[in-house]
Amino acid sequence: MANKSAYSGKAFPVQDGDTLACTAADLCHAVRFIDAGTRNSEVFEIFEAAPQIQCLPVLADGLLVGLINRQSFMVQIAGRFHWEVYGKKRCTKVMDDAPVRIDAAMRIHEIADRLVGDVPGGLPESFVIVCDGKLQGVGFTSDVLAALRQHERRAADELRQHRDRLFAMIEERTRDLRLAKQEAERANRAKSDFLTRMSHELRTPLHAIMAFSQLGTQRHSDADRPRLGSFFARIHESTVKLSLLVDDLLSLSRLDTGRIVLDLGYTDLGELLATVRDTFADTAGHRNIVVRVDRPEAPTPLRADPQRIGQVLTNVLGNALKFSPLNSEIVLRLAVEYSGTAEPAVGYRLDVIDQGPGIPDDEMESIFESFNLSSRTQTGAGGVGLGLSISREIMNLHGGSITARNLPAGGACFSLHFPRA
Ligand SMILES: Nc1ncnc2c1ncn2[C@@H]1O[C@H](COP(=O)(O)OP(=O)(O)O)[C@@H](O)[C@H]1O
Ligand SMILES: [Mg+2]
Repeated sequence: MANKSAYSGKAFPVQDGDTLACTAADLCHAVRFIDAGTRNSEVFEIFEAAPQIQCLPVLADGLLVGLINRQSFMVQIAGRFHWEVYGKKRCTKVMDDAPVRIDAAMRIHEIADRLVGDVPGGLPESFVIVCDGKLQGVGFTSDVLAALRQHERRAADELRQHRDRLFAMIEERTRDLRLAKQEAERANRAKSDFLTRMSHELRTPLHAIMAFSQLGTQRHSDADRPRLGSFFARIHESTVKLSLLVDDLLSLSRLDTGRIVLDLGYTDLGELLATVRDTFADTAGHRNIVVRVDRPEAPTPLRADPQRIGQVLTNVLGNALKFSPLNSEIVLRLAVEYSGTAEPAVGYRLDVIDQGPGIPDDEMESIFESFNLSSRTQTGAGGVGLGLSISREIMNLHGGSITARNLPAGGACFSLHFPRA
């Protein structure tokens, strides 16, 4: 195999860019040449002394007359019996007198066509490169093949990269579609669950109202007053439940369409909290749950929509009660918040702490989505899962926030931040 890179220190030139754009000039090796009068023995010596020399152009009167290739020269010389005779003969006897001439500007694939197509006697090892009829140097067929091969490899690489990109794109699209489908299915399931729960939530108090009003109608003449009173109490309780549910649905649809407008005014957050607590006094009393309010003695003025904030407090306290065990305690801790240690106050923080089952860690956020119940309470106290999503929207509208966490001792803590306007 010819040692081409050592020939004149010239490496194959085209590393980047379009290999096919490279020309014979790029493949050209500067080379020494010999005169037509040179003897075979001298040629042999040249080849022997410089193993990197692969071929020698032969000139007569400055004009190119042939090319001696190392390999064919050696083969021919080895085949002669009378070396003394042939050694003294002129090299023109063994040279290729019609070497392939390639113009320096010729492109690589044209060179390949020439080498393969035009040469009688098979693929030549080398060729001469000329410019305006003048000898520039020599080129090697192996370089041409290497350049073509490099081009082919690069094209294949590009094709492969292109294919990989395409695959990645398809995969990504498929994943997106799958996610979208899952999301749609999830939403659909949530909707069905919601409808089931909603019908249940509507039907239970409705049934109670129907049953107790019917009882009252049938028994109003013979039943005693306390008994009639208890019928009315049950009817009232059920209508309150229904009314809360309808309120929630109304708020939800208004929030959804952005039609909630806050009716802002000044109110006292501590007072509002105490009022909401009082509305739950009976419910808490029945289950022997103590609701303790822990709030600053000084007034806690707040610019807000008192009705909406009342709705938030009702929901959060209602939840705490709903999920609290019998004979437990709920703490409503209201505190003023400062930025750093300095006045003035930046707002209020309310923690609603219960001793219930708490919330699974990975559902801390999802419980704030409409119709979502935590997996821990789903089959328990019921509910439609609207309260917290509405509460968060209302808090956001006020520039505040609501978040949930579990307490180390067990139970949930809902923290509400109210910025002070
Ligand atoms: N204090 C709490 N302790 C444990 N889980 C709670 C508490 N508050 C809310 N959750 C969970 O968050 C869910 C969503 O609450 P919410 O949106 O108010 O809906 P609902 O009260 O109709 O169930 C509840 O169903 C429950 O799973
Ligand atoms: Mg609720």
